[in-house]
Amino acid sequence: MSYDQVYSAWKADPNGFWMDAAKGIDWDQQPSKALFEENAPLYEWFSDGMVNTCWNAVDRHVEAGRGDQIAIMHESPITHSTKGITYRELRDRVASLAGALRMRGVEKGDRVIIYMPMIPEALEAMLACARIGAIHSVVFGGFAAHELAVRIDDCQPKAIIAASCGLEPNRVVHYKPLLDAAIEQAEHKPEFCVIFQREQEVAKLVEGRDFSWHGFQYGVKPAECVPVEGNHPAYILYTSGTTGQPKGVVRHTGGHLVALHWSMKAIYNIEAGDRFWAASDVGWVVGHSYICYGPLLAGATTVVFEGKPVGTPHPGVFWRIIQNHRIKSFFTAPTALRAIKREDPTGEWIKRYKLHDLQALFLAGERADPDTVKWAQEHLGVPVVDHWWQTETGWAIAANPIGIEVLPTKIGSPTVPMPGYDVQVLDEGGHPVEPGQFGAIAIKLPLPPGTLPTLWNAEARYRKSYLEHFPGYYETGDAGYMDEDGYVYIMARTDDVINVAGHRLSTGAMEEVLASHPDVAECAVIGVSDDLKGQSPVGFVCLNKGATRAPADVVKDCVKLVRDQIGPVAAFKLAVVVNRLPKTRSGKILRGTMVSIADNKPYKMPATIDDPAILDEIKVALQSIGYAKG
Ligand code: COA
Ligand code: AMP
Repeated sequence: MSYDQVYSAWKADPNGFWMDAAKGIDWDQQPSKALFEENAPLYEWFSDGMVNTCWNAVDRHVEAGRGDQIAIMHESPITHSTKGITYRELRDRVASLAGALRMRGVEKGDRVIIYMPMIPEALEAMLACARIGAIHSVVFGGFAAHELAVRIDDCQPKAIIAASCGLEPNRVVHYKPLLDAAIEQAEHKPEFCVIFQREQEVAKLVEGRDFSWHGFQYGVKPAECVPVEGNHPAYILYTSGTTGQPKGVVRHTGGHLVALHWSMKAIYNIEAGDRFWAASDVGWVVGHSYICYGPLLAGATTVVFEGKPVGTPHPGVFWRIIQNHRIKSFFTAPTALRAIKREDPTGEWIKRYKLHDLQALFLAGERADPDTVKWAQEHLGVPVVDHWWQTETGWAIAANPIGIEVLPTKIGSPTVPMPGYDVQVLDEGGHPVEPGQFGAIAIKLPLPPGTLPTLWNAEARYRKSYLEHFPGYYETGDAGYMDEDGYVYIMARTDDVINVAGHRLSTGAMEEVLASHPDVAECAVIGVSDDLKGQSPVGFVCLNKGATRAPADVVKDCVKLVRDQIGPVAAFKLAVVVNRLPKTRSGKILRGTMVSIADNKPYKMPATIDDPAILDEIKVALQSIGYAKG
């Protein structure tokens, strides 16, 4: 079938389409139907089925004779190690950890936070939770203690599973002190912590609260897979919104399994026995869907990579891994390719490796800029598939589904909507616009299986953030257009979210941190264009009269504050002191205009600006830190 036929089949009979896709999953009890719309506009999928994620991702492959196949390949150029774990080993390790968690009182529905670097044990911890119906929430290692504390208070975990340390090329990330500080700061206290002690750092355990990974499992009875309802939350994953309070995206089990399993073949053309690699981090949605669950559901081999695209040790590391593990589909962020391209513009490192098995390169996380796509096409000689999705959706909204049909690439577009997604471009009044016209991108409800049904403990916020602006639609927060052929173009965000090196960050959250400095009266954070990272945050601060610290010191304090409060991943390195901020007469800060000035883009003088002269002051301030030079 062609893409058109598959998409039309879904449109004609969505229930039938997804019930058919559900056959790819082993159910303990078949769902009676796909869509549950009793609480519309809050929809659910496969709610009355009974199913276990870990069974589908691990055990069933052992039963089917794939026990000796490598399930997880760990590649750590930072520790110079390569290690494979078979499906049978994975089943036994996960069952043991799950048994230990259960023995300590973790049961179906309990939350468990996982704070771990890119090691196989991170996936094992996720799968162990899934095995007993516990709800995991993985927190990215690049966040600081405060961010971890916010998540502890929001999801109230019974236990936290962490590693002693993470490894960045230039330093050891001491997880344990961050974990201890977060528990100290949080109001909610977990009952216990499990610490995986890495060779590079042995952390000090808190007596009575902390257990070591191995000791904790000693002599326990392995746990069997516990069937859960299709609408039982598999996990919570926090993502940036417009404020400092992150949104806890909930993923229901049934839809998650069906959608990811379907996507592995249809989008990535991956089946049992194939080898797939997503070079992201388990702390992000890409890591959840396509390092852990997707490839394992398909019975493929997945790679867990602890390293960077460049510098660990050279810009050929991606190609070496693709060659050595005979990777068929590879997924990374455009920013990673830009980093490689900068060091290897003519593709010399690519030529050193044999990439015969590679059939396609997938890009997501931010807009794939045309230069980068062309460079990859030229040097890799395989289709380069830009695809668009969000933490909220858990899998691609728009893609080139190479397992169905390789559609012509239009550079700058993540291609076409996937079945399940009725993508519409709307004007401010919520009316669909003509092809080629710019607007807010929305998806007609219901969203497909695998997408968020709500936010954790925040249904009102879910409705307000996503459903209220355009009744009957899910508001993506992205803006752009669709062309005559139905290709989607994602051009900008409609909110204060910025994308730094493929990481989604909230400028609002950074502003909250800057505003906490005693000398700061007012502030604004914007995302300016960055050749490598896509965007980079820049802060503007106005000081209180009689500020105690010199402006240069306040700037230093601000940089340190954001690093300490949000974490190094915010990459907040630049701030300037200004006398005032450009505002409308009603007091709204003109962040968009400031971005245009920084990026040397033309802008219209906002009709409602309070005092146009301020824009000149902003330009001078930006020039002092290397922007707005055009
Ligand atoms: N734990 C602790 N710290 C982390 C971290 C982690 N898991 N990941 C990143 N950091 C730190 C980095 O060490 C760096 O700290 P520094 O300020 O002390 O140097 C900071 O966070 C910013 O990191 P990053 O954005 O990764 O920048 P970088 O300069 O180290 O590397 C790239 C630049 C482009 C190579 C890198 O960003 C990259 O590989 N990006 C791909 C992103 C990706 O896969 N995103 C997932 C979406 S699909
Ligand atoms: P995250 O939730 O961290 O995955 O970030 C999702 C956001 O990243 C989207 O809403 C977009 O703004 C952006 N994004 C992700 N993939 C793409 C893409 N292929 N093209 C353009 N923007 C993208």
